[in-house]
Amino acid sequence: MTSADTKICCLIGDPVEHSLSPLIHNAGYQALSIKYVYVPLRFQDIERGIEDIRKLGIRGASITLPHKTKALKYVDKVDPPAEEIGAINTIVNDNDVLTGYNTDGDGALQALEEVTTLGSKKVVLVGSGGAASAIAFRLKKKGVKLVILNRTEDKARKLAKKVNAEDSGGLEKLPLVSSADILINATSVGMPPETDQSIIPIELLHDRLIVFDIISNPKNTRLLTLARQKGGIIVYGYKMLLYQAARQFELFTGIKAPLLVMESALTKALEGGKDAAHFDRR
Ligand code: ATR
Repeated sequence: MTSADTKICCLIGDPVEHSLSPLIHNAGYQALSIKYVYVPLRFQDIERGIEDIRKLGIRGASITLPHKTKALKYVDKVDPPAEEIGAINTIVNDNDVLTGYNTDGDGALQALEEVTTLGSKKVVLVGSGGAASAIAFRLKKKGVKLVILNRTEDKARKLAKKVNAEDSGGLEKLPLVSSADILINATSVGMPPETDQSIIPIELLHDRLIVFDIISNPKNTRLLTLARQKGGIIVYGYKMLLYQAARQFELFTGIKAPLLVMESALTKALEGGKDAAHFDRR
């Protein structure tokens, strides 16, 4: 039940219709019986979306595609790690002062650290878009040896320079996966409708490899299926979606997120085949 003192949080993106974020956040609010509600809002123009956060007194917003980079310009303050990444996925409104955060990288790290320590591990990160950047910055802070590969090689080179990665290149360097400890797919290859695609051929996978695909829907991507066939450890993309949302929940409410409830709502939707589109992979 909502009432006059219910705090409103929202997702701002375009499109937002198939997002699982409202489900995850609202499951958390309901479990704790707190007066919050989370709604998806479709905005083509992020500047107007952020104006409306102020006008309507919205407490917190998740920012998704295609607005993560541009949104940074319209908030009053930016958390330093988000500034470094150059993109925000979260806005918190404290008495009309809007602060931008990026919870994507932390969400990814938490998912990985459930199965391994990072330390001096050799990581191949495929992709150089917004999600890959957030992950690359956080990984380097953990001291991993990082190789960034991307279809557009120049973007990989630029990101590698920014984060001080050990190596970078185009997809012709994918055979480097053979000697890696961890492989992360941060490209959109494997998302609907091309769910039969894997960015990495099975021949390059091996049983000592931890494979993390940041695509959350479908839960079992083609890449994860191949990795499992090879005997590797897999990390589901939905975990990143969950953990980044839990951090947002804590920023919005100041209360520890009820992770198990939020995870159960999310996996139920994924296993029930809820048709979340590619933009909601994190
Ligand atoms: P996000 O915010 O999710 O990271 P993005 O910034 O659009 O989204 O990045 C998408 C990533 O997927 C990019 O690394 C992109 O490669 P390019 O930089 O070459 O465009 C990668 N990608 C998308 N489609 C791809 C494909 N068919 N093959 C290989 N890489 C692909």
